[in-house]
Amino acid sequence: MTNRSREQRKTYWREFYKQRHSLVPTQFCALVASEIASHSTIVDWGSGNGRDSLFFAAQGHMMLAMDLSTEAVKIGAHEARLRGLHEKVIFLQGDLSCRPDVENVVQIARKKNNNGFLVHYSRFVLHSLDESEEDWFLEALSDCMKPNERVFFEFRTKEDADRYKHYPDHFRRYLDTDKFQLKLIDNLGFSVEYAVTGSGMAKYKQEDPLVSRVFARKI
Ligand SMILES: C[S@@+](CC[C@H](N)C(=O)[O-])C[C@H]1O[C@@H](n2cnc3c(N)ncnc32)[C@H](O)[C@@H]1O
Repeated sequence: MTNRSREQRKTYWREFYKQRHSLVPTQFCALVASEIASHSTIVDWGSGNGRDSLFFAAQGHMMLAMDLSTEAVKIGAHEARLRGLHEKVIFLQGDLSCRPDVENVVQIARKKNNNGFLVHYSRFVLHSLDESEEDWFLEALSDCMKPNERVFFEFRTKEDADRYKHYPDHFRRYLDTDKFQLKLIDNLGFSVEYAVTGSGMAKYKQEDPLVSRVFARKI
């Protein structure tokens, strides 16, 4: 299913997180953790139940975790308390296609680190947005980022469209990675420092999606 309305998608994520889902951190967050300075302040855009935010927080980073789903945010905040990480990770409900929500999260993050550098992280979220929502998010994000700040993306690619899915029946937009990089470079003022596309990077049970990882820096 590729064309569900925004409300249907919101309902999908609420119901998805009502069922218990894995809090095991992803391969992608382990890679990003090895790329960034210790004690960074990281914004996790579309954090889901916070599995990666909780991992980063346990590594000593300060986290702002934002997601559309109130259910997901509640689970993450509960888990942070159980793990004694509640002072290291703030969970916020918000819509990343809504500029004031993006600005609000960045403002809170900057207060937390005395207006220093932020790291931006977004895994398996861009393909959950339609193209207009992606554009609104990226434009707001770009405007909020300081020169030299970095953003780390992982998303499903157009090559993944026909492959087996563990959760088949919901909205996904499969990205053209070359087009996405050109958008970052030509329209949004980023340089792309690293990009790779392949399988074996986000395997889940019987599913081995074809994903891209793109690391970009605000010029
Ligand atoms: C596939 S999940 C990925 C969650 C998490 N990043 C991970 O890797 O486990 C996609 C997430 O994007 C969130 N999402 C979708 N549209 C959003 C929006 N407009 N604003 C904020 N979050 C959104 C969903 O609620 C869901 O938690």
